[in-house]
Amino acid sequence: MAFSMEFINELKMRNDIESIVSSYVSLKRRGSNLVGLCPFHGEKTPSFTVYPETESFYCFGCGAGGDVIGFVRRIENLDYVESIKFLAQRAGIALPAEGLDDNMSKLRARLYEANREAARFFYKNLTAAEGKVALDYLLGRGLTPSTIKHFGLGYAPDSWDLLISHMKSKGFSASELQMADLAVKNKSGSSYDKFRNRIIFPIIDLRGNVIGFGGRAMDDSSAKYINTSDTIIFKKSYHLFALNFAKNSKERVLILAEGYMDVIALHQAGFTNAVATLGTSLTKEQASLLSRYADEIVIAYDADEAGQKATARAMGILAGNPVKVKVLTLPGAKDPDEYIKKKGADSFRKLLEGSKNDIEYKMQKLKEGFNLDALDGRVSYLKEAVKILADTADPIEQDVYASKLSQELNVDKGAIALQLAEVQKRRLYREKSRILKPNKLPAGEITKPDPQKMRYPKAVAAEEAIIALLIRNPELFKAAEGKLTEQDFVTDFNRRLFCSICDKIKDGVFSGITSFYDDYNQEEIGVISGIIAKNSEFVANKDELCNLIDTLIIEKKSIDVTKAASEQEILEYTKKLYERKNKGVQ
Ligand code: UTP
Ligand code: MN
Repeated sequence: MAFSMEFINELKMRNDIESIVSSYVSLKRRGSNLVGLCPFHGEKTPSFTVYPETESFYCFGCGAGGDVIGFVRRIENLDYVESIKFLAQRAGIALPAEGLDDNMSKLRARLYEANREAARFFYKNLTAAEGKVALDYLLGRGLTPSTIKHFGLGYAPDSWDLLISHMKSKGFSASELQMADLAVKNKSGSSYDKFRNRIIFPIIDLRGNVIGFGGRAMDDSSAKYINTSDTIIFKKSYHLFALNFAKNSKERVLILAEGYMDVIALHQAGFTNAVATLGTSLTKEQASLLSRYADEIVIAYDADEAGQKATARAMGILAGNPVKVKVLTLPGAKDPDEYIKKKGADSFRKLLEGSKNDIEYKMQKLKEGFNLDALDGRVSYLKEAVKILADTADPIEQDVYASKLSQELNVDKGAIALQLAEVQKRRLYREKSRILKPNKLPAGEITKPDPQKMRYPKAVAAEEAIIALLIRNPELFKAAEGKLTEQDFVTDFNRRLFCSICDKIKDGVFSGITSFYDDYNQEEIGVISGIIAKNSEFVANKDELCNLIDTLIIEKKSIDVTKAASEQEILEYTKKLYERKNKGVQ
């Protein structure tokens, strides 16, 4: 990436990590660092830390880490060059010309253009003669022409190549169309239109780019919906339909529905704060995105069993994000679209006002599964209900629902409070032991333990302290040069890291974590930030560094000796076996 070190340093200086992160995460000071709830995974106790001294961040819970550029990259879902542009724009600095002709960002720009042109094509088709069937369908479902225009709905004609030939006439190549997933390659190598004879719902990102489409069939002869697959500009699990409109909700409340049609019907009825996932269940990235634009999420999923299961799942995903969660139940309708059609916007507004908060909703669902007339049914219900109470961190809420439970079941409130305290204590203990053992992360978290690191903990501790010191204070490099070589490293990852640091320092282009972006992926950047974070207590001076180098060299020697010894032992053992076998044969 052709940005000069001077430019990157200037960029980082004008976008200090503390203020950038604070605009997304509420941070509290702890010593010289700042901590908050991690925006990249759900958690209730803060394990996300910002280190102003090393201009880095690291989450002990999920392993995400990096510098300010890496933070923006993750949270805004941008690539490296786009994050640089984002920060440059924010600080009002001009981009150096050589950074702009990056091939990847050119390609992305082409795909944005392709999608925009395709959206135009679909929209035009809807009002042309061949689109009449589609327009009638939408009007028949109660959408007004202005709603259709607002959402840029369209029609993909019943043809294998009309879009492709239109796009070619506009200068797009077959490979660009395939990369945007507008065309699909067949076995013979040529391609055909992905969306055919379907109503088109353009998906628009927060900056107003068309990034993909949903396409609905108008009869039952094929899959009801197909969606753009993930492309280099579109990740289904990172976006929400209509968030481009809904993000401006003044009340900071968002309604989360299941389908495109629900969202559009809601917007038309005045609920312009509705969004939907894009053909998948809610992901944790979407949950954290929602919590950036809202303090309250109202889940308004379909009334059927699938919808209720999805509701429970979504509540789980949203828990841990700093948002209040409410759940809407729709009496007498299968989804919000139908509800509004049947009972009108005012009635829906009343539903919204009366929507249950997540505790009430969960309690009610829970109660349905127990026979409260029987004593053991009441006891089991109480046990489970206390677990739900323990999910909230709000003591007032807990008190209110403990009182309710106590009345409902005729159980002493003190006993409920005791049980609640017990559950909370157990959870706190579990959470603590998880944070203290960063190597043992729950499944699905970002960082996987490195087996080499598990095997030689002492040497690894020295390796990582050395690396952290060098990253924090590259001027100490002179003290290490000649004393320490790459052969002294025990783990491959740290050796590679050491070599990168040496190369960059020698070339005079070392600029902290940013120096690693070319050669390391996001997960590895997280690991590097973790190394810095976990070694912040070492005093950055020459003596400390030399001590660590001595420790590493001694450790490495003893590992080598043990290894050699065991190799020798194995050799002798095989020899013996061989001799015995030969004797047997004789
Ligand atoms: P629904 O089947 O509830 O459709 O799927 P809908 O949005 O309410 O549409 P109408 O009102 O029946 O026309 C909800 C969402 O699930 C995804 C789509 O995003 C849809 O909006 N979905 C559904 C698919 O991706 N593929 C499918 O085949 C079905
Ligand atoms: Mn539906």
